[in-house]
Amino acid sequence: MIITIDGPVASGKSSVAKRLADKLGFYYLYTGLLYRGLAYLLVTKFGYSDEELKKPRSADIDAIVNNPSFQYHYDTGIPTIMFNGENITPYLKTAEVDHWSSISSADPYVRQSVLHHQIELGKKYNLVVDGRDTGTIVFPHATIKIFLTAAPEVRAKRWQQDQMKAGKKFTFADALTAINERDQRDITRPHSPLIPATDAIIIDNSDMSIEETDEKLYQLCLSQHK
Ligand code: C5P
Repeated sequence: MIITIDGPVASGKSSVAKRLADKLGFYYLYTGLLYRGLAYLLVTKFGYSDEELKKPRSADIDAIVNNPSFQYHYDTGIPTIMFNGENITPYLKTAEVDHWSSISSADPYVRQSVLHHQIELGKKYNLVVDGRDTGTIVFPHATIKIFLTAAPEVRAKRWQQDQMKAGKKFTFADALTAINERDQRDITRPHSPLIPATDAIIIDNSDMSIEETDEKLYQLCLSQHK
């Protein structure tokens, strides 16, 4: 069984998806981490500039993502990317990697290569999966599809607070610009844009607490699965 949760930046989908997966005893697939891992390695291993991230060389994508040493794990209950035996996850949640992954993820060959990892995990596990196109492109036959969103100002505040926890200070205006830029790239790209699946349930959690969002999604899963 597959449950997809898509939505814009800082809609809370990753935290909600992880808790939902743990509650249901499912495997949690955080697809953004795959895009982050690839972008991080394109920059740190191959020295990519922002301009080059727009059109990564297929040989470089192959050397990273289409390589058995690039792996996603959730066995420890923490979404993890391993590359060449090294856990690179601690480097992937920075504002720089936010930016890099937002650029390279628009490339069709990047998407095709990352898609393969997602499909393989979907064959092995019951999944709660979150991302941008998981209900539309990756798992169009998912049992339950949710599109989680919130007002841009609310999401900017959440993003700003997350960065603060990591010791990085951003003004509210900068946070709003950062999330809007990434959302615009995801919404306007020709391949797998961010868009709710026609059969997705749309939830706006602008005025909901974390606990309320968790409970809403859990109840929805129970009611849909009867
Ligand atoms: O979900 P997260 O914000 O960590 O993802 C990082 C970036 O990867 C996003 O800004 C988005 O551009 C890209 N992404 C994507 N499709 C997905 C998941 C993430 O394009 N399914």
